[in-house]
Amino acid sequence: MGRAFTAAPLLLLLGLLALGLGAATANVGDSCSTSADCGAGQWCFDCEPKFSGSHCVRSAATNPYQLINNSLPFNKYAYLTMHNSYAIVGEPSHTGIPRVTFDNQEDTVTDQLNNGVRALMLDTYDFQGDVWLCHSNGGKCNDFTAFLSVQIAEPALDTFKEIEEFLSSNPSEIVTIILEDYVHAPNGLTNVFNASGLLKYWFPVSKMPQNGQDWPLVSDMVASNQRLVVFTSISSKQSSEGIAYQWNFMVENNYGDDGMDAGQCSNRAESAPLNDKTKSLVLMNYFPSVPVKSTACLQHSQNLIDTVNTCYGSGNQWANFIAVDYYKRSDGGGAFQATDLLNGRLLCGCQDVSACLQGSGVASSA
Ligand SMILES: *[C@@H]1O[C@H](CO)[C@@H](O)[C@H](O)[C@H]1NC(C)=O
Ligand SMILES: *[C@@H]1O[C@H](CO)[C@@H](O)[C@H](O)[C@H]1NC(C)=O
Repeated sequence: MGRAFTAAPLLLLLGLLALGLGAATANVGDSCSTSADCGAGQWCFDCEPKFSGSHCVRSAATNPYQLINNSLPFNKYAYLTMHNSYAIVGEPSHTGIPRVTFDNQEDTVTDQLNNGVRALMLDTYDFQGDVWLCHSNGGKCNDFTAFLSVQIAEPALDTFKEIEEFLSSNPSEIVTIILEDYVHAPNGLTNVFNASGLLKYWFPVSKMPQNGQDWPLVSDMVASNQRLVVFTSISSKQSSEGIAYQWNFMVENNYGDDGMDAGQCSNRAESAPLNDKTKSLVLMNYFPSVPVKSTACLQHSQNLIDTVNTCYGSGNQWANFIAVDYYKRSDGGGAFQATDLLNGRLLCGCQDVSACLQGSGVASSA
Protein backbone atom coordinates (compact mmCIF):
# COMPACT_ATOMS: atom_id res chain seq x y z
CA MET A 1 0.00 0.00 0.00
CA GLY A 2 2.81 2.36 0.96
CA ARG A 3 4.52 1.66 -2.36
CA ALA A 4 1.44 2.55 -4.29
CA PHE A 5 1.23 5.91 -2.55
CA THR A 6 4.82 6.81 -3.20
CA ALA A 7 4.54 5.80 -6.84
CA ALA A 8 1.57 8.09 -7.48
CA PRO A 9 3.42 11.44 -7.57
CA LEU A 10 6.07 9.90 -9.79
CA LEU A 11 3.45 8.67 -12.24
CA LEU A 12 1.82 12.07 -12.21
CA LEU A 13 5.15 13.71 -12.90
CA LEU A 14 5.85 11.29 -15.77
CA GLY A 15 2.42 11.99 -17.15
CA LEU A 16 3.01 15.73 -17.10
CA LEU A 17 6.41 15.26 -18.68
CA ALA A 18 4.90 13.19 -21.47
CA LEU A 19 2.37 15.94 -22.15
CA GLY A 20 5.04 18.59 -22.10
CA LEU A 21 7.36 16.66 -24.38
CA GLY A 22 4.56 15.87 -26.80
CA ALA A 23 3.84 19.60 -27.01
CA ALA A 24 1.36 18.57 -29.65
CA THR A 25 -1.48 20.59 -28.29
CA ALA A 26 -2.30 22.56 -31.42
CA ASN A 27 -5.51 21.87 -33.30
CA VAL A 28 -6.31 21.89 -36.98
CA GLY A 29 -6.25 25.52 -38.06
CA ASP A 30 -3.77 26.71 -35.44
CA SER A 31 -0.65 28.39 -36.73
CA CYS A 32 2.59 26.47 -36.49
CA SER A 33 6.19 26.62 -37.57
CA THR A 34 6.94 22.91 -37.83
CA SER A 35 4.82 19.76 -37.81
CA ALA A 36 6.04 19.03 -34.28
CA ASP A 37 3.85 21.95 -33.17
CA CYS A 38 0.77 20.15 -34.45
CA GLY A 39 -1.25 17.32 -32.95
CA ALA A 40 -1.18 13.67 -33.92
CA GLY A 41 -2.35 13.05 -37.48
CA GLN A 42 -1.57 16.63 -38.51
CA TRP A 43 1.24 18.44 -40.26
CA CYS A 44 2.26 22.06 -40.57
CA PHE A 45 1.36 23.36 -44.01
CA ASP A 46 1.11 26.67 -45.81
CA CYS A 47 -2.05 26.82 -47.92
CA GLU A 48 -1.32 29.99 -49.82
CA PRO A 49 -3.11 32.16 -50.77
CA LYS A 50 -5.95 31.00 -48.56
CA PHE A 51 -4.07 31.77 -45.36
CA SER A 52 -0.91 33.64 -44.68
CA GLY A 53 1.60 31.51 -42.85
CA SER A 54 1.52 27.86 -41.94
CA HIS A 55 -1.28 26.11 -40.13
CA CYS A 56 -1.84 22.65 -38.72
CA VAL A 57 -3.88 20.59 -41.19
CA ARG A 58 -4.79 16.92 -41.16
CA SER A 59 -2.34 14.38 -42.51
CA ALA A 60 -3.93 11.05 -41.58
CA ALA A 61 -7.25 9.33 -42.12
CA THR A 62 -9.62 8.07 -39.46
CA ASN A 63 -9.67 4.28 -39.41
CA PRO A 64 -13.36 3.33 -39.43
CA TYR A 65 -12.64 -0.34 -38.71
CA GLN A 66 -10.93 0.71 -35.49
CA LEU A 67 -13.12 3.66 -34.57
CA ILE A 68 -16.48 1.98 -35.24
CA ASN A 69 -16.15 -1.72 -36.16
CA ASN A 70 -15.37 -3.87 -39.17
CA SER A 71 -18.49 -5.99 -39.12
CA LEU A 72 -20.24 -4.37 -42.07
CA PRO A 73 -19.89 -5.22 -45.78
CA PHE A 74 -16.82 -3.89 -47.60
CA ASN A 75 -19.03 -1.52 -49.63
CA LYS A 76 -20.31 0.20 -46.47
CA TYR A 77 -17.03 2.00 -45.90
CA ALA A 78 -15.21 4.81 -47.71
CA TYR A 79 -11.56 4.61 -48.65
CA LEU A 80 -9.18 7.45 -49.34
CA THR A 81 -7.73 6.74 -52.78
CA MET A 82 -4.54 7.96 -54.42
CA HIS A 83 -4.60 8.86 -58.05
CA ASN A 84 -1.34 7.73 -59.68
CA SER A 85 -0.01 6.78 -56.28
CA TYR A 86 3.48 6.01 -57.44
CA ALA A 87 4.32 9.31 -59.12
CA ILE A 88 6.31 10.60 -56.21
CA VAL A 89 7.92 14.00 -55.98
CA GLY A 90 11.63 13.70 -55.49
CA GLU A 91 11.93 9.99 -56.04
CA PRO A 92 15.05 9.14 -57.98
CA SER A 93 14.55 8.16 -61.55
CA HIS A 94 14.72 4.42 -62.08
CA THR A 95 15.95 4.92 -65.59
CA GLY A 96 18.94 7.08 -64.89
CA ILE A 97 17.37 9.97 -66.73
CA PRO A 98 15.98 12.91 -64.79
CA ARG A 99 12.23 12.99 -64.78
CA VAL A 100 10.49 16.05 -66.07
CA THR A 101 6.89 14.96 -66.15
CA PHE A 102 4.00 15.65 -63.79
CA ASP A 103 4.07 14.26 -60.32
CA ASN A 104 0.89 13.61 -58.40
CA GLN A 105 1.88 12.62 -54.91
CA GLU A 106 4.50 13.57 -52.37
CA ASP A 107 4.77 10.48 -50.21
CA THR A 108 5.93 6.97 -50.87
CA VAL A 109 3.22 4.37 -51.23
CA THR A 110 4.25 3.09 -47.79
CA ASP A 111 3.72 6.55 -46.27
CA GLN A 112 0.38 6.84 -48.02
CA LEU A 113 -0.78 3.50 -46.60
CA ASN A 114 0.49 4.36 -43.13
CA ASN A 115 -1.45 7.62 -43.29
CA GLY A 116 -4.65 5.75 -43.98
CA VAL A 117 -4.81 5.64 -47.77
CA ARG A 118 -6.54 2.36 -48.62
CA ALA A 119 -6.86 2.38 -52.41
CA LEU A 120 -4.29 3.04 -55.10
CA MET A 121 -4.87 3.86 -58.75
CA LEU A 122 -1.94 2.60 -60.78
CA ASP A 123 -1.17 2.60 -64.51
CA THR A 124 0.47 -0.66 -65.58
CA TYR A 125 2.41 -1.20 -68.80
CA ASP A 126 4.51 -3.81 -70.54
CA PHE A 127 8.01 -2.43 -70.51
CA GLN A 128 11.47 -3.92 -70.88
CA GLY A 129 10.08 -7.45 -70.68
CA ASP A 130 8.42 -6.69 -67.38
CA VAL A 131 5.48 -4.78 -65.88
CA TRP A 132 6.12 -1.14 -65.05
CA LEU A 133 4.11 1.67 -63.56
CA CYS A 134 4.29 4.53 -65.96
CA HIS A 135 2.76 7.83 -66.95
CA SER A 136 2.20 7.79 -70.62
CA ASN A 137 -0.28 8.05 -73.37
CA GLY A 138 -1.13 5.91 -76.33
CA GLY A 139 -0.93 2.80 -74.16
CA LYS A 140 2.84 2.50 -74.34
CA CYS A 141 5.46 3.17 -71.71
CA ASN A 142 7.96 4.80 -74.00
CA ASP A 143 11.60 3.99 -74.14
CA PHE A 144 12.83 7.19 -72.58
CA THR A 145 16.23 6.98 -74.10
CA ALA A 146 14.60 7.68 -77.42
CA PHE A 147 12.66 10.67 -76.24
CA LEU A 148 13.46 14.00 -74.77
CA SER A 149 10.34 14.14 -72.66
CA VAL A 150 10.86 11.71 -69.86
CA GLN A 151 8.24 9.58 -68.19
CA ILE A 152 7.78 8.73 -64.57
CA ALA A 153 8.24 5.00 -64.41
CA GLU A 154 9.25 2.23 -62.11
CA PRO A 155 8.92 -1.55 -62.00
CA ALA A 156 5.50 -2.51 -60.63
CA LEU A 157 7.24 -5.10 -58.47
CA ASP A 158 8.77 -2.40 -56.22
CA THR A 159 5.42 -0.81 -55.45
CA PHE A 160 3.66 -4.15 -55.06
CA LYS A 161 6.28 -5.19 -52.51
CA GLU A 162 5.55 -2.05 -50.48
CA ILE A 163 1.86 -2.99 -50.47
CA GLU A 164 2.73 -6.55 -49.45
CA GLU A 165 4.76 -5.29 -46.55
CA PHE A 166 1.91 -3.09 -45.40
CA LEU A 167 -0.64 -5.92 -45.57
CA SER A 168 1.65 -8.29 -43.74
CA SER A 169 2.30 -5.83 -40.90
CA ASN A 170 -1.34 -4.67 -40.72
CA PRO A 171 -3.38 -7.89 -40.65
CA SER A 172 -6.74 -6.13 -40.21
CA GLU A 173 -6.44 -3.82 -43.20
CA ILE A 174 -7.69 -4.17 -46.76
CA VAL A 175 -6.05 -2.52 -49.76
CA THR A 176 -7.72 -1.97 -53.13
CA ILE A 177 -5.72 -1.54 -56.34
CA ILE A 178 -7.43 -0.03 -59.37
CA LEU A 179 -5.41 -0.58 -62.52
CA GLU A 180 -5.48 1.44 -65.69
CA ASP A 181 -4.08 -1.58 -67.40
CA TYR A 182 -2.00 -1.67 -70.59
CA VAL A 183 -0.28 -4.97 -69.86
CA HIS A 184 -0.83 -7.47 -72.66
CA ALA A 185 1.83 -10.04 -71.78
CA PRO A 186 0.00 -13.25 -70.86
CA ASN A 187 -0.12 -13.55 -67.07
CA GLY A 188 2.10 -10.49 -66.89
CA LEU A 189 0.25 -8.99 -63.94
CA THR A 190 -0.35 -12.31 -62.22
CA ASN A 191 3.37 -12.99 -62.32
CA VAL A 192 4.17 -9.68 -60.63
CA PHE A 193 1.44 -10.13 -58.03
CA ASN A 194 2.89 -13.55 -57.33
CA ALA A 195 6.50 -12.41 -57.23
CA SER A 196 5.66 -9.58 -54.84
CA GLY A 197 3.94 -11.92 -52.39
CA LEU A 198 0.59 -10.18 -52.93
CA LEU A 199 -1.15 -13.18 -54.47
CA LYS A 200 -1.64 -14.77 -51.06
CA TYR A 201 -3.97 -11.90 -50.07
CA TRP A 202 -6.04 -12.11 -53.25
CA PHE A 203 -9.78 -11.55 -52.88
CA PRO A 204 -11.33 -13.79 -55.55
CA VAL A 205 -13.69 -12.50 -58.22
CA SER A 206 -16.06 -15.36 -57.32
CA LYS A 207 -16.81 -13.63 -54.00
CA MET A 208 -17.58 -10.24 -55.57
CA PRO A 209 -21.28 -9.42 -55.90
CA GLN A 210 -22.43 -9.48 -59.55
CA ASN A 211 -25.70 -7.67 -59.26
CA GLY A 212 -25.50 -4.87 -56.77
CA GLN A 213 -25.66 -6.98 -53.62
CA ASP A 214 -23.52 -6.16 -50.62
CA TRP A 215 -19.92 -7.28 -50.54
CA PRO A 216 -18.72 -9.77 -47.94
CA LEU A 217 -18.18 -8.40 -44.44
CA VAL A 218 -14.84 -6.75 -43.81
CA SER A 219 -14.44 -8.96 -40.74
CA ASP A 220 -14.83 -12.05 -42.95
CA MET A 221 -12.38 -10.74 -45.54
CA VAL A 222 -9.91 -10.19 -42.71
CA ALA A 223 -10.56 -13.61 -41.17
CA SER A 224 -9.95 -15.33 -44.50
CA ASN A 225 -6.92 -13.09 -45.12
CA GLN A 226 -8.35 -12.11 -48.52
CA ARG A 227 -7.39 -8.48 -48.06
CA LEU A 228 -6.29 -7.39 -51.51
CA VAL A 229 -9.01 -6.27 -53.92
CA VAL A 230 -7.81 -5.69 -57.49
CA PHE A 231 -9.61 -4.25 -60.49
CA THR A 232 -8.36 -4.04 -64.07
CA SER A 233 -9.58 -1.97 -67.00
CA ILE A 234 -9.12 -4.92 -69.41
CA SER A 235 -12.31 -6.99 -69.46
CA SER A 236 -10.76 -10.21 -70.74
CA LYS A 237 -8.53 -10.55 -67.69
CA GLN A 238 -11.48 -11.38 -65.49
CA SER A 239 -11.78 -14.80 -67.13
CA SER A 240 -8.16 -15.26 -68.21
CA GLU A 241 -6.41 -14.22 -64.97
CA GLY A 242 -9.17 -13.85 -62.41
CA ILE A 243 -8.64 -10.10 -62.13
CA ALA A 244 -11.96 -8.32 -61.71
CA TYR A 245 -13.03 -6.06 -64.57
CA GLN A 246 -13.60 -2.76 -62.83
CA TRP A 247 -16.75 -1.75 -64.70
CA ASN A 248 -18.55 -4.94 -63.72
CA PHE A 249 -18.43 -3.86 -60.08
CA MET A 250 -18.01 -0.13 -59.85
CA VAL A 251 -19.37 3.13 -61.19
CA GLU A 252 -17.21 6.21 -61.47
CA ASN A 253 -17.71 9.88 -62.28
CA ASN A 254 -15.76 11.86 -64.85
CA TYR A 255 -12.12 12.47 -64.09
CA GLY A 256 -9.86 15.46 -64.55
CA ASP A 257 -11.34 18.95 -64.41
CA ASP A 258 -14.81 17.55 -65.15
CA GLY A 259 -14.70 15.61 -61.88
CA MET A 260 -14.16 18.71 -59.76
CA ASP A 261 -17.33 20.54 -60.65
CA ALA A 262 -19.47 20.76 -57.54
CA GLY A 263 -22.39 21.73 -59.79
CA GLN A 264 -22.72 18.41 -61.60
CA CYS A 265 -21.48 14.84 -61.42
CA SER A 266 -21.92 12.24 -64.15
CA ASN A 267 -20.35 8.95 -65.10
CA ARG A 268 -17.19 8.65 -67.14
CA ALA A 269 -17.55 6.95 -70.51
CA GLU A 270 -16.39 3.48 -69.40
CA SER A 271 -18.72 3.42 -66.40
CA ALA A 272 -22.40 2.62 -66.15
CA PRO A 273 -24.48 5.62 -65.02
CA LEU A 274 -23.90 6.60 -61.41
CA ASN A 275 -27.39 5.43 -60.44
CA ASP A 276 -26.86 1.93 -61.87
CA LYS A 277 -27.72 -0.23 -58.88
CA THR A 278 -26.16 -3.40 -60.30
CA LYS A 279 -22.72 -2.10 -59.23
CA SER A 280 -22.12 -2.02 -55.48
CA LEU A 281 -19.10 0.27 -55.44
CA VAL A 282 -18.79 3.96 -56.31
CA LEU A 283 -15.57 5.81 -57.04
CA MET A 284 -15.39 9.58 -57.08
CA ASN A 285 -12.54 11.13 -59.05
CA TYR A 286 -11.47 14.51 -57.73
CA PHE A 287 -8.22 15.66 -59.30
CA PRO A 288 -7.49 18.17 -62.04
CA SER A 289 -6.49 17.23 -65.59
CA VAL A 290 -3.03 18.62 -64.89
CA PRO A 291 -1.84 18.14 -61.31
CA VAL A 292 -0.77 21.41 -59.75
CA LYS A 293 0.72 21.16 -56.32
CA SER A 294 0.18 24.75 -55.33
CA THR A 295 -3.57 24.76 -55.93
CA ALA A 296 -4.34 21.32 -54.48
CA CYS A 297 -5.00 22.71 -51.02
CA LEU A 298 -7.53 25.19 -52.37
CA GLN A 299 -9.34 22.36 -54.11
CA HIS A 300 -9.30 20.11 -51.04
CA SER A 301 -11.71 22.38 -49.24
CA GLN A 302 -15.43 23.07 -49.21
CA ASN A 303 -15.60 22.41 -52.95
CA LEU A 304 -14.55 18.81 -52.31
CA ILE A 305 -17.30 18.35 -49.72
CA ASP A 306 -19.81 19.96 -52.08
CA THR A 307 -18.74 17.63 -54.89
CA VAL A 308 -19.15 14.59 -52.63
CA ASN A 309 -22.73 15.68 -51.98
CA THR A 310 -23.38 16.43 -55.66
CA CYS A 311 -22.14 12.99 -56.69
CA TYR A 312 -24.40 11.43 -54.09
CA GLY A 313 -27.26 13.33 -55.69
CA SER A 314 -26.44 11.84 -59.11
CA GLY A 315 -26.30 8.23 -58.00
CA ASN A 316 -28.16 8.12 -54.71
CA GLN A 317 -25.18 6.14 -53.43
CA TRP A 318 -22.33 7.55 -51.34
CA ALA A 319 -18.87 7.10 -52.80
CA ASN A 320 -16.68 4.31 -51.44
CA PHE A 321 -13.50 5.57 -53.04
CA ILE A 322 -12.46 9.21 -53.17
CA ALA A 323 -9.48 9.69 -55.46
CA VAL A 324 -7.25 12.75 -55.13
CA ASP A 325 -3.74 14.01 -55.82
CA TYR A 326 -1.56 15.51 -53.06
CA TYR A 327 -3.86 14.07 -50.43
CA LYS A 328 -2.26 15.87 -47.47
CA ARG A 329 -2.64 19.35 -48.94
CA SER A 330 -5.67 21.17 -47.58
CA ASP A 331 -6.92 24.16 -45.67
CA GLY A 332 -7.84 21.99 -42.68
CA GLY A 333 -9.58 18.64 -43.02
CA GLY A 334 -9.28 18.20 -46.77
CA ALA A 335 -9.63 14.74 -48.28
CA PHE A 336 -9.56 13.21 -44.79
CA GLN A 337 -12.63 15.13 -43.74
CA ALA A 338 -14.40 14.19 -46.97
CA THR A 339 -13.61 10.54 -46.23
CA ASP A 340 -14.95 10.95 -42.68
CA LEU A 341 -18.12 12.44 -44.12
CA LEU A 342 -18.54 9.49 -46.48
CA ASN A 343 -17.92 6.96 -43.72
CA GLY A 344 -20.41 8.77 -41.53
CA ARG A 345 -23.00 8.63 -44.31
CA LEU A 346 -22.31 5.04 -45.21
CA LEU A 347 -22.04 3.66 -41.68
CA CYS A 348 -24.75 5.51 -39.79
CA GLY A 349 -26.28 8.30 -41.86
CA CYS A 350 -24.24 10.95 -40.04
CA GLN A 351 -22.15 13.89 -41.22
CA ASP A 352 -18.96 12.48 -39.78
CA VAL A 353 -17.76 9.00 -38.92
CA SER A 354 -17.08 9.99 -35.32
CA ALA A 355 -20.78 10.75 -34.88
CA CYS A 356 -21.48 7.04 -35.47
CA LEU A 357 -19.95 6.39 -32.07
CA GLN A 358 -22.80 8.13 -30.32
CA GLY A 359 -25.97 6.19 -29.71
CA SER A 360 -26.88 3.02 -31.51
CA GLY A 361 -25.60 4.12 -34.86
CA VAL A 362 -29.14 4.67 -36.06
CA ALA A 363 -29.10 7.83 -38.11
CA SER A 364 -29.13 11.11 -36.42
CA SER A 365 -28.69 13.73 -39.05
CA ALA A 366 -26.35 15.83 -36.93
C1 LIG B 1 3.72 -18.28 -58.05
O1 LIG B 1 5.10 -18.52 -57.95
C2 LIG B 1 5.41 -19.80 -57.49
C3 LIG B 1 6.92 -19.85 -57.24
O2 LIG B 1 7.60 -19.40 -58.33
C4 LIG B 1 4.95 -20.82 -58.52
O3 LIG B 1 5.25 -22.13 -58.09
C5 LIG B 1 3.45 -20.66 -58.70
O4 LIG B 1 3.00 -21.51 -59.74
C6 LIG B 1 3.10 -19.23 -59.05
N1 LIG B 1 1.65 -19.07 -59.07
C7 LIG B 1 1.01 -18.46 -60.05
C8 LIG B 1 -0.48 -18.37 -59.92
O5 LIG B 1 1.58 -17.96 -61.01
C1 LIG C 1 -20.94 -1.63 -36.30
O1 LIG C 1 -21.22 -0.27 -36.53
C2 LIG C 1 -22.41 -0.03 -37.25
C3 LIG C 1 -22.47 1.45 -37.56
O2 LIG C 1 -22.45 2.22 -36.38
C4 LIG C 1 -23.60 -0.54 -36.47
O3 LIG C 1 -24.78 -0.34 -37.19
C5 LIG C 1 -23.41 -2.01 -36.17
O4 LIG C 1 -24.45 -2.48 -35.34
C6 LIG C 1 -22.06 -2.25 -35.49
N1 LIG C 1 -21.85 -3.68 -35.39
C7 LIG C 1 -21.41 -4.24 -34.27
C8 LIG C 1 -21.25 -5.73 -34.30
O5 LIG C 1 -21.13 -3.60 -33.28
